[in-house]
Amino acid sequence: MKKIIFATGNNGKIKEIKEIMKELKIPVLSMKEAGIHADIVEDGNTFEENAIIKAKGVAALIGDRGESIVLADDSGLEIDYLNKEPGVYSARYMGEETSYRIKNQNLIDRLEGVPDEKRTARFVCVIAAVLPDGEIVTTRGEIEGKIGYEERGINGFGYDPIFYLPDMSKSTAELMPEEKNLISHRGNALKDMKEELQKRHM
Ligand code: IMP
Repeated sequence: MKKIIFATGNNGKIKEIKEIMKELKIPVLSMKEAGIHADIVEDGNTFEENAIIKAKGVAALIGDRGESIVLADDSGLEIDYLNKEPGVYSARYMGEETSYRIKNQNLIDRLEGVPDEKRTARFVCVIAAVLPDGEIVTTRGEIEGKIGYEERGINGFGYDPIFYLPDMSKSTAELMPEEKNLISHRGNALKDMKEELQKRHM
């Protein structure tokens, strides 16, 4: 049977992808729902490489993939003034166990004295798919913003409180989840992936 298996343990991401992919009328399963346990080392240098490593790693664990489509994502924050740091290291920046309050304050401190026009940044998300015939497809979504001067908002996660959207005069942590999904890097990459699958009559 045709199904999509999304290589993540993050429930928030699963909810979002189920919502966006529901038009395809193909069931979307988390790794847990598909009975797969994997701890894949993301040692790529780009978001594309890491997303492909994860999708291929999970696809390899499924014996007979039949008509299954395996999807994985990799995402992060690029700050232009810091040569695109933390980038692919966003989750690992200052150590996985360090709180985002500390990570966010550290980034604000590293931008001390940097004027508005040089505080440009973006969230990037790449989704990789391994299709039933082995073809690999990737899509990339981005959202542009600026690094704020202090944390603002309590929604979202990670770097959201310091990611400021000048057009909306809000940080992404001040948006409701539905509002963020409509414009987010992950939302855009998922919508493009849905179109890639539709083009292939899936
Ligand atoms: P991964 O894609 O789950 O490996 O992790 C990406 C990391 O990038 C997260 O742990 C966050 O630190 C950061 N990140 C990615 N997307 C967002 C977002 O929408 N808001 C805040 N932080 C994000």
